[in-house]
Amino acid sequence: MRLIQRTNGTELSSPGRDFLAIEGLPASELRRLLDHAEALLPAAVGDVRAEARLAGRVVANLFFEDSTRTRVSFEIAAKRLGADIVNLGASGSSASKGETLVDTARNIEAMGVDAIVVRTAISGGAALVARHVECPVINAGDGRHEHPTQALLDALALRIRLGDLTGKRVAIVGDIANSRVARSATHALVTLGSHVVVVGPPALVPVGFEELATGPGSITISHDIDSIIGDIDAIMMLRVQMERAAGNGIAPDYRSTYGLTAVRRNKLRPGTPILHPGPVNRGVEIDDIVADDNRDSVILAQVSCGVAARMAVLLRAIDR
Ligand code: NCD
Repeated sequence: MRLIQRTNGTELSSPGRDFLAIEGLPASELRRLLDHAEALLPAAVGDVRAEARLAGRVVANLFFEDSTRTRVSFEIAAKRLGADIVNLGASGSSASKGETLVDTARNIEAMGVDAIVVRTAISGGAALVARHVECPVINAGDGRHEHPTQALLDALALRIRLGDLTGKRVAIVGDIANSRVARSATHALVTLGSHVVVVGPPALVPVGFEELATGPGSITISHDIDSIIGDIDAIMMLRVQMERAAGNGIAPDYRSTYGLTAVRRNKLRPGTPILHPGPVNRGVEIDDIVADDNRDSVILAQVSCGVAARMAVLLRAIDR
């Protein structure tokens, strides 16, 4: 932390320590993070004590959009590693008085924090903050753009269940257009060599989404869940993002056309893991009986993997 004002016009960044997107992350780096997160899993869930490698460090959680899992997960991850964490939300901060995201972040940085975790409704907002502060910035979800730590935890939960993800067929079903989870997961899976099938109503699947594929894997688009459900290795259900206006076009028959109902679950190959990033809208994209299935629902395992993934990302950002 510098105590002297920097020269105006110079853009700041922490190359190699920010964690802003999965797009562009080399496969080797993604695998290294997954291996590290997997090794940290027993400490993440409290079975063993983690080494306090971040003792004396301070992490700021700037959450300008609502969150349950991600915010608490970063908080627990930081605490498990011995760091202190401060939480700031839109209400209760000067964001409600019109202070910009960048000004807020720069003021928090001036207090000497070691890393800033940002959640914002602005697509590209985390990268914007990263250009204006010196400390590492971690994207905890920026609008419709990316949610890179979610992709890490999704890939980890899948890898634990399926082994090497090369060649695996993973369906991502729902509101693809508005979902940063879908974008980040797709980038991660394609980088790891999986074949992603995105499934949703035409209005909620962007035209050209398959062109995101820049790895050994592939992306295909389907508007018919029943035609693909028997031929996949994993299925990830997504919430329709009402807060991003996706709800306007949601048909009352969404559950019957795209929901993972008990009847559809029975068409999955036995043992196919069922993922959902949460929050779950029960009875819309997934039925209770499917979400709570002890054998194949990995929804809570994803949450456990999330703490481990965020520990790995915090160590990459700060511990050097
Ligand atoms: C997701 C998000 O906020 O992007 N939730 C999460 O972080 N686990 C998905 C969602 O809100 O539907």
